[in-house]
Amino acid sequence: MTFCKDFLWGGATAANQFEGAYLEDGKGLNVSDVITVGSHQSPRRISLEMDEKYFFPSKKASDFYHHYKEDIALLAEMNFKSYRMSIAWTRIYPNGDDEFPNEKGLLFYENVFKELKKYNIEPIVTISHNEMPLNIVKKYNGWTNKKVIDLYVKYCEVIFNRYKEYVKYWLPFNEINNLLLPLSNLIQGGIYLKGTVYFNDQKDEPELRLNALNNILIASAKAVKLGRKINPNFHFGTMICHITRYPRTCHPDDNLLVQKNDLIHNCMCSDVMLKGEYPFYAIKYFEKSKIHLHLNDEEKQILKEGTCDFYTFSYYQSITESTLKFEDETSGNIMGGIKNPYLKETDWNWPIDPVGLRYTLLKVYDRYRVPIMITENGIGCIDKLEKDKTVHDPYRIEYLRDHIIEMKKAVEDGVDLIGYTAWGCIDLVSVSTGEMKKRYGFVYVDADDYGNGTYNRYKKDSFYWYKKVIASNGEDLD
Ligand code: BG6
Repeated sequence: MTFCKDFLWGGATAANQFEGAYLEDGKGLNVSDVITVGSHQSPRRISLEMDEKYFFPSKKASDFYHHYKEDIALLAEMNFKSYRMSIAWTRIYPNGDDEFPNEKGLLFYENVFKELKKYNIEPIVTISHNEMPLNIVKKYNGWTNKKVIDLYVKYCEVIFNRYKEYVKYWLPFNEINNLLLPLSNLIQGGIYLKGTVYFNDQKDEPELRLNALNNILIASAKAVKLGRKINPNFHFGTMICHITRYPRTCHPDDNLLVQKNDLIHNCMCSDVMLKGEYPFYAIKYFEKSKIHLHLNDEEKQILKEGTCDFYTFSYYQSITESTLKFEDETSGNIMGGIKNPYLKETDWNWPIDPVGLRYTLLKVYDRYRVPIMITENGIGCIDKLEKDKTVHDPYRIEYLRDHIIEMKKAVEDGVDLIGYTAWGCIDLVSVSTGEMKKRYGFVYVDADDYGNGTYNRYKKDSFYWYKKVIASNGEDLD
């Protein structure tokens, strides 16, 4: 067998895209709650108030809050060994700076963990996945304020203590490196600058944004240090959005461009989180960009002491870059780049590149030599619920199969891969567009982009396929 015998096959979701019940049992508003629905053609709108003339998809999402028992039973039926989920910070601390945690919120996740335990499904918990309390944005300007580090650590302390018997794997932040882009100002940085209207086109002050990222890295290291004291058996992982980059031509300048962008965008955060300090190229990058990072000696020491144990990343696509002009080849991809003539794309213009996954696995394992998990991978597609309530999704099976084949090759190459959690294992709301119709799941949720539907769950063809894949530990991919 190629994969190790306790390989963590599973799937992943995030509270803000999946739970709904946005004000139930004491939950407060978070940054994702106030982003409207959009589409591939029309961007999502942002403001700090919820103007009722728009639809806000996180309000009900997939309604996991009321379906968790049924949903976890479906995951168990697929033989899941692991389930990556996030805790909504605002269920625990509705405003982020409350004196005491919200017991009803704590109880909800305890029930979820008990349910997972019943089926021997290992939780992998993201502590912050685009779920900062909105009050922190308004009152503290999000992560730009160092006081927020303590608010986050206080939240961590509560959940570490409460769930220490249930949870071993923790990911302090989702796709931490995305704050290198203005796109993540609100959802990750908690930064909202006046004049921002659209999610894809946010006002930006790089110095503020990168200092917010620096504070997040410090908070992550503090959480790791604290977690290890509470339970030495906790395992902490990075979570990097790895956008694998290729040069469009063999011109040396194209290669240098890709190398530079790869270091900053893909490697910098994980270098800090696994090696315990900012790498030389990052220090030069900040100097050249005239960005002053507020990082004192005590914080540098914290970064050293709070390094992670394993590397996780999301992998959906690669992008292609060039210093030369390739007119008419601009990709419609949210991450930028130009078209790669060798790759097909999804309906949302995300290039499909399974071989890039093998390449990425080799690269990151060579760089860090720690166990690796792929904590997001998948394809967003338009599915059709047939009259007989089936969904035929050969395109999803093909995408996942091709990626698993490359994972296998990477393991044969020597990479220590310990888990794979396919994104959106049950349909949920898309981050980039707010749509429900951009579906990733093995399970269909009967709801449209505007919250109409029964919210009943239906198994897709990929459900039966993935069940077989897990049962055979990745040997039977047909
Ligand atoms: C990752 C996020 O960036 O990509 C997820 O961690 C997100 O939250 C996923 O849903 C897929 O992106 P999208 O835009 O298709 O939802």
